[in-house]
Order: sequence, then C-alpha cells, then structure tokens
Amino acid sequence: MKVNGKDYRTVWLEESAVMVINQRLLPHKFEIKALSNHIETAEAIRDMTVRGAGAIGAAAGYGMAQVFLEAPSEEPSRSEYIQQGYERLKNTRPTAKDLFYAIERVKQAGLAGSARDAVAEAERIADNYIRAAELIGKYGAELISDGMTILTHCNAGWLAFVDWGSALAPIYFAHRAGKKVSVIVDETRPRCQGARLTAWELQAEGIAVKIIADNAAGFLMRRGQIDIVITGADRIAANGDVANKIGTYEKALCAKANGVPFYIAAPASTFDLDCANGWDIPIEQRNDDEVLYANGLSDSGQITRVRLAPQGVGAINLAFDVTPAELIDGIITEYGIIKPTPDQIAQIMNERK
Ligand code: MRU
Repeated sequence: MKVNGKDYRTVWLEESAVMVINQRLLPHKFEIKALSNHIETAEAIRDMTVRGAGAIGAAAGYGMAQVFLEAPSEEPSRSEYIQQGYERLKNTRPTAKDLFYAIERVKQAGLAGSARDAVAEAERIADNYIRAAELIGKYGAELISDGMTILTHCNAGWLAFVDWGSALAPIYFAHRAGKKVSVIVDETRPRCQGARLTAWELQAEGIAVKIIADNAAGFLMRRGQIDIVITGADRIAANGDVANKIGTYEKALCAKANGVPFYIAAPASTFDLDCANGWDIPIEQRNDDEVLYANGLSDSGQITRVRLAPQGVGAINLAFDVTPAELIDGIITEYGIIKPTPDQIAQIMNERK
C-alpha cells in the first residue's frame, strides 16, 4: 500500500537487515527501522515495533533467516546458535500462530539446505501473505454491498500483514471496485491499534472512517448503524473458535444479539489443528502499564505517556480473547469463505498441503 505516494510492504529484507515500519510511532510519525540481526528482530516483535499476526509471521521468518546468515560454520557451535536463535524468536509472543508457522518453515528450509534457502523460504512466506491477502480481499468484498457500514476491531490491515491485510482487505477491494463504504473502528484499548493504525490506514486510502470508544459498538448495532462486522484472527482452533484481540468476543456477542453478520478474515497459516478448541490457545498477558497509562501526542507535539489510574492500583491485561465458533457466520480465507466447522477447516488445510 502507499504512504506519501510510495509503495511499501510492512516488513521486508534488505541485505541481511529486516526492515519494518515502526508501528509504535504511528500515526504521529512514519519511520522505517532496520533490524540488523535476529536479536533486534526478536526484540522488535516483543515490543510491538512490528505487530499483527501476518507481520509478526513475516518478521519472524526473516529473523530465522538472519539466524542462519549469522550462524558460525563449524559444529557444534552452528547447531547451538541456530537452536538458540529459534528459541529466542519463538519466545517473543505466544498467541499468533503465524509466528510459529514461519519460524518452523524457515528453520526446516535452512537445516535441509543453506542460509540462502532459509532466506528464500522467508521471502516465499512474505510473498504468500500478499497473495493470500489479495484472495481474502476478493472473496470478502462479495460480502460488502454499496453503502454498507463495516465495524472492525484492532488492526488487521496491511500493517498487520505484509500488504492489504486480512479484515481490511475486503474493504479495500470493495472500495477500489467503486462501492461506497464507511468503516467504524473500535479504538481497541489498551494499545489502541484501531484508533492509531486502522484509522490511519483507512484515511490514507480515502475511505470514510470514524473511531468509537470500545464500549459503543453494541448500541450502534442495536440502532442499526452497523451492517457487518469483520475482524482478523491470531489463531483459529480446529473447531472454529477464534483468538483475536481482546474485545472481539464482546463484539461477536453484540452482533449475534442484534442479527448483525460477524465474519473473521484470516489465511490458512493462522489455523492451528493442534488446538482442538479455543481453550487450547495460549493467551498472552501483557504488562499492567498498558492499561494504567495511555500514550499519545501532546498539544506541543511530543509523543507522551500519561497515567490514567490511581497510583497503586493494578490491572488485568489479557491481550486476546476467544470467540466461540457458534458466534461466527463465516471465515474469509484465501480458499474462499468457509463456515467455522471442523469439516470445512480440515478441508482447506488439506487443500493447502
Ligand atoms: O497484539 P497485536 O497488535 O499484535 O494483535 C494482533 C492484532 O492486530 C489483532 O488481533 C488482529 O485482529 C489480528 S492480526 C491480523
């Protein structure tokens, strides 16, 4: 997608450096960060300089390729270095399946071949994310009619992938096909990916967008002001339960209560058949400070942190929740729109092989 008229991917490789758009600074500052080794790449995933399931996957894949590029040539130091790098990347964030999918694939390619094969595999993963997102965009756009208002949660746009996104891809495709669409974005506390990132993406594309407080969506649905909900996913269990950004479950409940269609958009790499249902998905718990403080731009133009809560009060900061399959009308994948059932999920996973 374009920023100031120039085409960007969210994550890419230049020589041996992983290049990322620094998502911690958006929308106030657009900065590209070069991560010169796998330790810096792992840290950028951990501190959410790069975030969102697909972007984490692509960055972790490139990080694993960096491990092979950096590894000493003699044994046993080489194998030890590769294993340590793999563990470091694996331990950055626990919920998004794409992270594990990508490092595993790149590790296998590097072990079976050379560092060059690891790099080629990481590039293939990033390219495949773009192809998958384009197909998700094409299939998902069929759900969107002219004049619709779509609700989305968090950021599952191009910043969260390599290009296009998952939940936002259908909106971009519908808009580019000439349909008049408008989007309502949950601010998505505590890190406000909706207010900061999704609103920034949609505004840049010229799509009408309004931000709402996280607790406003239910009433807007009741008033008939939302036609469809589309969100992304961080991991999808074999039975169709979906882990996504905290707050997604509540939106799905509100959608069900008000007869609003609720869709998830995600590529096959986000499905995890090793999780029988949502209870098996590890849920990341992050630092209390994300809830207790807010970050933003001060009137004097400084990016600043302010405390919201009384000193001494703690928080519960679960980063994700699980929406049970029965609340989901469909999952938009690169293989088409499926029902969240074990059969249909098994079918697309077989098709992928
Ligand atoms: O914690 P984050 O920002 O990495 O969370 C991931 C997400 O952006 C959302 O859960 C998203 O809807 C799925 S990722 C495309």
